[in-house]
Formats: sequence, structure tokens, C-alpha cells
Amino acid sequence: MTARAPAKVNLLLSSGPRRDDGYHELLTVFQALSLADDVTATPAPEWGVSVRAAAHPAAGGAGAAGELDVSGVPLDEGNLALRAALLLARETGAGSPVHLSIRKGIPVAGGMAGGSADAAAALVACDALWHTGLGLDGLSELAAGLGSDVPFAVHGRTAVGTGRGERLVPVLTTSTWAWVLVLAGHGLSTPAVFAEFDALAAAGALPPEGDPAERLRAVEAALRAGDPQALGAALSNDLQAAACSLAPAPAGPRAAGRAPGAAGAVVSGSGPTVA
Ligand code: C5P
Repeated sequence: MTARAPAKVNLLLSSGPRRDDGYHELLTVFQALSLADDVTATPAPEWGVSVRAAAHPAAGGAGAAGELDVSGVPLDEGNLALRAALLLARETGAGSPVHLSIRKGIPVAGGMAGGSADAAAALVACDALWHTGLGLDGLSELAAGLGSDVPFAVHGRTAVGTGRGERLVPVLTTSTWAWVLVLAGHGLSTPAVFAEFDALAAAGALPPEGDPAERLRAVEAALRAGDPQALGAALSNDLQAAACSLAPAPAGPRAAGRAPGAAGAVVSGSGPTVA
């Protein structure tokens, strides 16, 4: 059984301070991309996982044949897809061991929720294989326990996320959106980027990003109107300064946004990918 889950970009990411549980209260807008990971679940004598890179004929730049580097993906229970399958089996009592074969199209540790996509696809594939009957709501609840971005990877399309990012409301869009992604040769750890965000906030060194509700209204209006220039102007990410402070973004989001023909540019999520 094979399921596909999308990469995401964050069109808006507004973060509050660290909460008592260690997470940050977010107001974000996710958009799912056609760029995706496939996860195939096959009944097997024991639980296992393997990973390979999807061929990327269009990917230019560094790396042999533009292949993604998947060496950072864990092949034990640190793998979020395997954790997802084990969780579903435990919660429903329905599962028996599977081998998960992950075909990655989404950059690893790139701020595009690749690990979350694998978890979402594993949930959907195993759910179909085992006929658990959990439905979208049941799967979303399990997804939220696996990671803040996993519920969005289950739902896809375009949505406002609040809480840790796990509470979702769909957003109306009236166009097909095309993105240019500038991939970095390195990844960034999400906890490290949030820690840097806290440090910059404590030092008063974060650039002012404006009122979150107004930023959301601008993004929603651009999506509704199908206006890429307006959306480009409305892109913003509170984590951008932290991501750029830990590792300079590939093209530099501000420079990329001023490139001829560009409507705007932003670091996606915790970076370093620039959309
Ligand atoms: O939810 P997930 O496991 O993907 O989060 C990874 C880490 O990112 C968390 O442990 C936390 O350090 C950070 N995070 C956060 N606030 C969020 C989401 C993630 O601080 N809303």
C-alpha cells in the first residue's frame, strides 16, 4: 500500500514566546506542494524502514544528478514514519509488522516538513492496509502526537495552523501557485532554530514583523484573489532571522526576493530552504 504526502511551505509564520511545555504558540499558513514523499507499507516478518531519493531530473546545481541527500534519515525507531506505524498499530490493535519503503522527494531537514510527510503517509498507508476505520479525525489526532506539522501533512492543501501548528482551518485559494525553491547544501534542526529565536528575542535582536492578525489578513486576501505579487509582498516568517543567524540561507531570502521577476521570498518554516 503506497501513500503520498506533500512538502509544505509556510507563507506566514508568527511565533509567540516559548510556552511552559517547551513549544511556541504559532500562527502560520501552510501550503502543500506537489513535491512529495511516497511511503509504501508491505507486510513483513518484522518492523523495518528503508529510504531512497526520488530522481529529480529538474533539480539543478550541486550534487550528482541533483539527487537529494537522504543520509540523515534515521533507519531505526528515530524514524518518524516507523514511529507512526507503530503508534497506529498500538492504538488500534489492528496492525502487524510492515516494512516501510520511503521514496523521498522532499529535502531532509529543509523546513519543508519532510519527516512529517513520511509520518503522515505511513499513517495513511497502514490505515488502508489494516482497515482501522479511524477516519481523518482519528488519524489527525494520532498525527498531532507524532509532531506539530504531521496533521497538516495528513490534510494537505492550504490551511491556517494555530497552537503548536497542529490545529488547522482550511484557507480558500483561487489559483494554482508555482514556487521556486532554493535548497541549501545543509539542513537545520528545528529545536535549534527555535532556541536561536528565543536567544535573539531575549537579546532584543529580532526584526519587527508587524501585527500577526494583519499579516494573516494580507496572506488570506492574496490567496483569495489569486494574486502572486500580493502574496509575495505578504510573505513573512518570524524564524527567518534565527535560521539565517545559524546558517546563512542559500540565496539570502531578501536578495532572492529582489531577483528579477521574483514576487517575494521567504525562508520556509525553520529553514534553510528559501521559497
Ligand atoms: O512537534 P515537533 O516534534 O515537530 O517539534 C520539534 C521541536 O521544534 C520541538 O521539540 C520544539 O523544540 C520545536 N517547536 C516549537 N514550537 C512549535 C513547534 C516546534 O518550539 N510550535
